[in-house]
Amino acid sequence: MKIVAFGGSNSSNSINKKLATYITTFFKEHSIEILDLNDYEMPLFSVDKIAKNGLPQLALDFANKVDESDFIIMSLAENNGAYTVAFKNIFDWISVIQDRKAFWGNKPTFVIATSPGPRGGSSVLNLAKTTLPYYGANVIDTFSLPSFYENFKDEIGIVNLEFETDLKSKIEKIKADFLK
Ligand SMILES: Cc1cc2nc3c(=O)[nH]c(=O)nc-3n(C[C@H](O)[C@H](O)[C@H](O)COP(=O)(O)O)c2cc1C
Repeated sequence: MKIVAFGGSNSSNSINKKLATYITTFFKEHSIEILDLNDYEMPLFSVDKIAKNGLPQLALDFANKVDESDFIIMSLAENNGAYTVAFKNIFDWISVIQDRKAFWGNKPTFVIATSPGPRGGSSVLNLAKTTLPYYGANVIDTFSLPSFYENFKDEIGIVNLEFETDLKSKIEKIKADFLK
């Protein structure tokens, strides 16, 4: 099985990329590719730019990564209660690729969010959970890690037993149901 994981952020020190990367360590028996949204930086989405220049190759490249995967792990950063511009720009670009109705490939998708605050990106997580299925993401579960800097240490991972236990039980279920 091929797993594609990314943090929904273009921050070079993204806590969401760190969390997504950590979560991939529980899937070592599978092939894993971790994407960096900085590698898919495109002009700000605009219908005028499509009319003038067509689609950026990077939009097709990102869509290919989605299509080649069997399972997606995305950890979304929250900016003002919603997606970051970096994530939304890629989302909008892949959504206009012709003949590609399921923008997220109908792949089983584990949607995660973390933030430094106590709400753990719950607004963006809720946004993703309720709306991504309309755009071809098969959201199979969600996980939020609040207060990232208290609950996660770079050398260890999640250090709060309650959250670690919750995450591990979700991962076990995902493996049993989708990654046999
Ligand atoms: C413009 C901006 C808006 C933000 N809005 C929110 C927010 O609505 N909710 C939240 O929990 N954190 C918010 N934050 C803090 C982010 O959660 C924090 O920067 C986090 O590190 C982003 O994740 P990342 O490190 O993966 O990019 C915001 C940060 C910025 C710069």
